[in-house]
Amino acid sequence: AELQQSWPRLPLPAVLTTLSLFSLGVDAQAGQAFTVQQPQAKVTVTAGETLTLICITSGVAGPGPVMWLKGWGNENKTVYDPNNRDPSSRVTVAVPGSDTNFTIHISNVQPEDMGTYYCVKFVKGSTGADEVFRRGSGTEVTPCPALGPTSTAPGLYKACEGPPSLAPPGSSPQVPCNMF
Ligand SMILES: *[C@@H]1O[C@H](CO)[C@@H](O)[C@H](O)[C@H]1NC(C)=O
Ligand SMILES: *[C@@H]1O[C@H](CO)[C@@H](O)[C@H](O)[C@H]1NC(C)=O
Repeated sequence: AELQQSWPRLPLPAVLTTLSLFSLGVDAQAGQAFTVQQPQAKVTVTAGETLTLICITSGVAGPGPVMWLKGWGNENKTVYDPNNRDPSSRVTVAVPGSDTNFTIHISNVQPEDMGTYYCVKFVKGSTGADEVFRRGSGTEVTPCPALGPTSTAPGLYKACEGPPSLAPPGSSPQVPCNMF
């Protein structure tokens, strides 16, 4: 109660200084604290599989979308843009509505899906256009390494969980690794 009463008595310059220091603090935090994490450096896939690409953000940033790009520089392709969604796309967000988990699924993986994917936070620039603010370190998607000629025998190999390895006897047939 004492604090409330003392507020109107503060000289106006003191109030303004307090307010502007506060907003400076928020701006600085917005720039520094925001991170984009892509925990998967590399993922191997087989054709037809559903690929999951993880992206987690933390911290505060200005308004603007988080998108997925494949490639960087002039070769980039927009894989997911929340403001420009293609209903026929094989790409869907794993956690709709989340503002920190921007993980996507890409179904029915095809050879043209190979490449390096970047999760990118954009913010509105001074011209009003979205500009790159932060990006993740990238996830490289490659075909599962091709196996030797004997590898296509069903049940012999476990595909695509790290290096190819022998599956236990009697386990169900695995997808051959060398589909691309
Ligand atoms: C993506 O490609 C377009 C067209 O070449 C280019 O204007 C844009 O700057 C590129 N974006 C990134 C993030 O590399
Ligand atoms: C993000 O979403 C994916 C897919 O649902 C889930 O596997 C993962 O645990 C989530 N990560 C965090 C940090 O919320």
